Amino acid sequence: MSVQLRTQVAIAGAGPAGLMLAHLLQRAGIESVIVESRSREYIERRVRAGVLEYETANLLEETGVGERMRREGLVHRGIALRFADASRRIDFEELTGGKTVTVYGQQEVVKDLVAARLETGVPIAFECEVVEVQPNGAGGASLRYRDAEGAETTVRADFIAGCDGFHGPCRAAIPPGDATIWEHVFPFSWLGILAESPPASEELIYANHERGFALVSMRSRTISRLYLQCDVGEDLAEWSDERIWTELRERLGSERGGPEVVAGPLLQKGVTPMRSFVCEPMRYGRLFLAGDSAHIVPPTGAKGMNLAIADVRVLAEALTAFYAHGTTELLDGYSERCLRRVWKTQRFSTYMTSMLHRFDSREPFERRVQLAELDYVTSSRAAAESLAENYVGLPFN
Ligand code: PHB
Repeated sequence: MSVQLRTQVAIAGAGPAGLMLAHLLQRAGIESVIVESRSREYIERRVRAGVLEYETANLLEETGVGERMRREGLVHRGIALRFADASRRIDFEELTGGKTVTVYGQQEVVKDLVAARLETGVPIAFECEVVEVQPNGAGGASLRYRDAEGAETTVRADFIAGCDGFHGPCRAAIPPGDATIWEHVFPFSWLGILAESPPASEELIYANHERGFALVSMRSRTISRLYLQCDVGEDLAEWSDERIWTELRERLGSERGGPEVVAGPLLQKGVTPMRSFVCEPMRYGRLFLAGDSAHIVPPTGAKGMNLAIADVRVLAEALTAFYAHGTTELLDGYSERCLRRVWKTQRFSTYMTSMLHRFDSREPFERRVQLAELDYVTSSRAAAESLAENYVGLPFN
């Protein structure tokens, strides 16, 4: 015997996509139930992305969940590209007519959205595993989940939003013949650390070095987030703290006029694979995929969370039109509209990845072309404008 619930939209996953969707729907008077396999503590601590596009930051603010972000987030007006022992700045504000990005951790966005949800009095089903996704049953859609004690609940809904990440069960509910999967796996990974150390630079630095890519980012004025290109399947045990700091200093050119990287205690260390992935279409009947369940971009463009938020913005609009007027045009156009942005974002993320990493399979000639690309994008206004426009985020409409 399982408990039965009825709602308008059943949401699998309480990451930025699922939580933002619930928030936008709630503002439109649409009911939802959120089911999340992890605990609240886990999702509020999980360190992930950290850069909000201009319109993502605006959306948080406009919908009443941006107060802490505006207070604690760091507004960045540009980034530096470092290569051939020199740093060159891309000035977003100047190149995009005043747009900026905001450095604010994904888990902070998650905290703010969880708080907003709980304030409405509607709980989130944490530590509940989705065990069955039924997009197209006779009576509509349904989703069955099991809580930590093993008790099962069936949620009947008009629609299911699959915001359950790359490994979640929602995409798997689409029969193989009903979607095309596009995938590319890059021949390297990122070793990322979170460290108690003041950022080596006020702005992010993307460095192309003979030994591989390095990135200086941050979470606050006292916490650095740093990355090093490493091998696929790299063994973390091989990377002592000291080796990491030495490698960062080398690749960032700390001894050659580059930023001064100050070592500090590591709070976290991990390896991120680099892949591109798209599931097309992002819809199967009453099931709508959003965020990482539908697409993965390599992190070099800082786009993952922004793309997830853009998806649910489109989905919330479509659901709002459906409930207000009974029209399905926007629901029917959901996948196509999202995928146009997704593919442009794949293009940009691939471009940044290709320009900045060391590819062992490339010929010396291609390496020279890569350096010319960096020189071009940091000296041609047309090229720099294009990078800046994409980095701060393509217009939503
Ligand atoms: C991060 O701060 O985690 C970060 C920043 C920029 C990227 C990727 C990750 O491109």
